[in-house]
Amino acid sequence: MKKKFVNAKIYRNDSAAEIMVEDGQITQIGTNLPKGEEEIDLKGKLVMPPYVDPHLHLDYVYTLTELGQEGAGSGTLFEAIELWPKFKETLTVESVKRLAMKGIKDEVSQGVQHIRTHIDVTDPNFTALKAMLEMKEELKDIVDIQIVAFPQEGMYMYKGGRDLVEEALKMGADIVGGIPHYEPAREFGEKSVHDIVELALKYDKLIDVHCDETDDPHSRFLELLNALVYMEDYGSRSTASHTCSFGSADDSYAFRMMDIFKKSNLNFISCPTENAYLQGRQDTYPKRRGLTRVKEFIESGINVAFAQDSINDPWYPMGNGNMMNILDNGIHLAQIMSPEEVETNFDLITYNGARCLNIQDSYGLEVGKQANFIVLDESSVYEAIRKRVDVLASVRNGNFLFRRREPEYEIPLEL
Ligand code: FE2
Repeated sequence: MKKKFVNAKIYRNDSAAEIMVEDGQITQIGTNLPKGEEEIDLKGKLVMPPYVDPHLHLDYVYTLTELGQEGAGSGTLFEAIELWPKFKETLTVESVKRLAMKGIKDEVSQGVQHIRTHIDVTDPNFTALKAMLEMKEELKDIVDIQIVAFPQEGMYMYKGGRDLVEEALKMGADIVGGIPHYEPAREFGEKSVHDIVELALKYDKLIDVHCDETDDPHSRFLELLNALVYMEDYGSRSTASHTCSFGSADDSYAFRMMDIFKKSNLNFISCPTENAYLQGRQDTYPKRRGLTRVKEFIESGINVAFAQDSINDPWYPMGNGNMMNILDNGIHLAQIMSPEEVETNFDLITYNGARCLNIQDSYGLEVGKQANFIVLDESSVYEAIRKRVDVLASVRNGNFLFRRREPEYEIPLEL
């Protein structure tokens, strides 16, 4: 059946207002297209590819509530990592799936269709990984899930951690993860970065490292990761998540590094709400913001995306899967609100995330691609961001995943 979506205000495409869909694929995009068998009026609302959340911990979502009082720590990253192992022992495949489903629902119901999740594999039973491999398959019609084999407790801080990551890759994880700043000494952090790149090359997997998630400007595992992927020509398949310490690095060092990031094509993910909450905890005043150099990356043409990271877990008590909230916080913390910056701010939760996920060839509103898109409750980019508007509808393979009505007012709210 030919479905024609009309009257769309397409993000970053002023020359088209209609999308023709057949068998779930976009067959035409433009204006004055032939008649469809079904016509859907999008009423001039902003249409863009689905939100991408490129960094989320689906095996942690809602565990803070499950932990009760015990989970309510003082709010540092390392304290949360210490709390986790006790809880991890109680997990079952069913319990992981039950909570993860709540997090997925939060995200999908607000316009996300692509999630990259880090799954803790420092667990010889691989309980969470087994659960997530099942969910990835079961939910593929509503959301694409990529799984990072993430050694939360370290490749060396945790006995046998490196080998567990390798086993997880054999079991079907898509991406090699790591946490070098948590390893017991710099030497082991560096060793883990070498391991990450070697494993990715050996198993033909992507890379996404929790890298330098600390305010310590001496934490420079990013430098090594970038050098290794540069030399292997693997930067576009690799991502450095967080890189908070790079926000505290000396400018002369940072600008030298950004020059090499450009050459390597390494991707970056910043988690603005999470890191604004976790970082700067040892600072008195001024307190650092915890963010990497998002503005400078954008200005230098280095790919950077925003992510949710946590929903109600020992690391972060808030979070609700609303990428507009992440974008709003991110553009404040990174100070990117000039008219030119606003025009492309949505890239931070759409196209840039897709590049981190390496799905840029299949993602976006173009002929031949899957008809996946969202409809926002505004027609201009600026107004949508300023008002933090909701997603009115999410379309996947040409079908509505959900549709919301605009509110109707009993009392007229206009003069
Ligand atoms: Fe994370």
